[in-house]
Amino acid sequence: MLSKIMTDALNKQVLMEAESSQAYLAMASWAEVQPGLDGVTQFFYKHSDEERAHMLKLIHYINERGGNAVIPALKQPTLKFKSLHDAFAELLKHEIKVSESINDLVDVALKQKDFATHNFLQWYVAEQIEEERLARVLNDKLQMIGNDKSGLYLFDRDIMQITTANQNEAEA
Ligand code: FEO
Repeated sequence: MLSKIMTDALNKQVLMEAESSQAYLAMASWAEVQPGLDGVTQFFYKHSDEERAHMLKLIHYINERGGNAVIPALKQPTLKFKSLHDAFAELLKHEIKVSESINDLVDVALKQKDFATHNFLQWYVAEQIEEERLARVLNDKLQMIGNDKSGLYLFDRDIMQITTANQNEAEA
């Protein structure tokens, strides 16, 4: 059975994942109306879906362990970005915030001696390492490319390949 403190902390994470999903959905919709960003568009739509899956996993866990998951109200996310660089910088900043929040959650689980939740959270710890790594790699690439049009074209093509490869992996 989850303690009240643990339930509240997990519900805060539900909100964070829901906000992440909304933020990336807004990025996807922004990218979709920019010329030539088909790969980036797919990447953000897929990323938004992944965040929703992270949220659902938490909701089921809370409810299955005798807590009550709270479906949160959401603030409107940022809708417009000055550039692709801007959107990806936001992505990295956001993922760092999520990692910190997961770390805090692990800390609560340990303090509560809730080893089942601690164990459950390890999936999120591993996922955040991967998400932060990918966000950093993409930001580094954009730094290198600057405003070079052919570089940006290749970036969009590469990110499309990453997205399709991950999708095939998930479906296999
Ligand atoms: Fe679910 Fe990207 O954090």
